[in-house]
Amino acid sequence: MPSISSKLLILFIWACLSTLSSANQPWFWAHNCSSPFNPTHHPSPPPPTSPTSRTPPSQSLPPSPPRSRRPRTPPSQQMPSPPPPSPQLPPPPPPPRSQRPRTPPRSRGPRTPPSQQSSPPPPPPTPPSRKIIVGGSEHWHLGFDYNDWALKNGPFHINDILVFKYDPPNSTTPAHSVYQLPNMRSFVNCDLGKAKMLANSTQGSTENGFEFQLKHQNPYYFACGEANGFHCQTGSMKFTLTPILQG
Ligand SMILES: *[C@@H]1O[C@H](CO)[C@@H](O)[C@H](O)[C@H]1NC(C)=O
Ligand SMILES: *[C@@H]1O[C@H](CO)[C@@H](O)[C@H](O)[C@H]1NC(C)=O
Ligand SMILES: *[C@@H]1O[C@H](CO)[C@@H](O)[C@H](O)[C@H]1NC(C)=O
Repeated sequence: MPSISSKLLILFIWACLSTLSSANQPWFWAHNCSSPFNPTHHPSPPPPTSPTSRTPPSQSLPPSPPRSRRPRTPPSQQMPSPPPPSPQLPPPPPPPRSQRPRTPPRSRGPRTPPSQQSSPPPPPPTPPSRKIIVGGSEHWHLGFDYNDWALKNGPFHINDILVFKYDPPNSTTPAHSVYQLPNMRSFVNCDLGKAKMLANSTQGSTENGFEFQLKHQNPYYFACGEANGFHCQTGSMKFTLTPILQG
């Protein structure tokens, strides 16, 4: 089938060019060379032996470009390139009107689906933040190995929320707190000199405890800041972790 179509096309173009050369007109003025591939009727190309029998295009008629341009476009192209610029030509008509059913399956097919495929898939929902109670049921108190707890309960993720729970101090319960130490050295030595207090001695006794969200991938160093480092060092109230990206 493509060979027949291309032969017809070549015949047709040749016939048109013969007509045009005899009429000495630019190709785009010959709007009577039209639609050899109209499926409603099977055309026969104009007889090449009598090109002069066709009525030559009148110079007074305004050019009507859309039909004469179609046969020069190869069937595989969907949109014709704009015509050569000419001051005598009116602006080209909008392309949808000149869209013709010459190549129905291929030219129509890709035009409609993009509206359905253009909607991007919804972004994956961000997982809700996990809330992790530091020490589990032990909460935050003297003598529990929190570094071991952190090793066994990892890995921790970015956006995880650590929950510190501890009783307010009274005559029998010592005060606790939560500090963030700046580096491994201060963590090993329980040096609170440059530590930052995250929660004081009463903030762990609220109903939800003290919540701290992990926000970056650098190591975190936590410690109790009470008793001048004694809870951190001897009481083992310290732990370190490095959250990872959820994936
Ligand atoms: C195109 O064809 C019609 C009828 O076949 C004729 O009346 C008209 O003059 C022709 N136009 C040109 C430019 O040849
Ligand atoms: C101190 O607090 C603890 C925990 O809240 C409580 O069990 C204990 O009874 C309190 N002691 C006194 C003397 O208030
Ligand atoms: C702890 O912090 C809370 C909130 O900032 C504050 O209301 C409370 O007085 C503080 N407690 C102590 C003992 O500093």
